[in-house]
Amino acid sequence: GAAVEVDISAVKPGEKITVEWRGKPVWIVKRTPEQLAELPKLDALLADPESKRKQDELTPVYARNEGRSIKPEVFVAVGICTHLGCSPSDKFQPGAAGGMSSDWGGGFLCPCHGSTFDMAGRVYKNKPAPDNLEVPPHMYLSDTRLLIG
Ligand code: FES
Repeated sequence: GAAVEVDISAVKPGEKITVEWRGKPVWIVKRTPEQLAELPKLDALLADPESKRKQDELTPVYARNEGRSIKPEVFVAVGICTHLGCSPSDKFQPGAAGGMSSDWGGGFLCPCHGSTFDMAGRVYKNKPAPDNLEVPPHMYLSDTRLLIG
């Protein structure tokens, strides 16, 4: 089986862990209440705020919501840019980040060509990456155990 079981009990709000699934990095991010509060404010800045594109590939049915997640505070995504496959870096701190304006609410920045993603992996407009980050198939085995794949 290609599925990977992950214990997320030690991940604190504002932290990310990375596990490998099918040779790809999968991020598990615990979002803070502040980070969650930011998400609905960003829609106008995003290329595909409701994650309508390539839904079958990128956004499982249970993640077709604002946070693109099963539980609002836990975000699971494949850490590979949808442009040419680099791995975006964490830019979780609000304020200026990587040349972005000081209203940056946090997310991910691809070092290769500058695509930016919010804390739900949604790509900003006018960036080289065409799509939001992929949310892989996943489910909870218990409150703290995730199965990826
Ligand atoms: Fe990420 Fe090009 S590979 S912006």
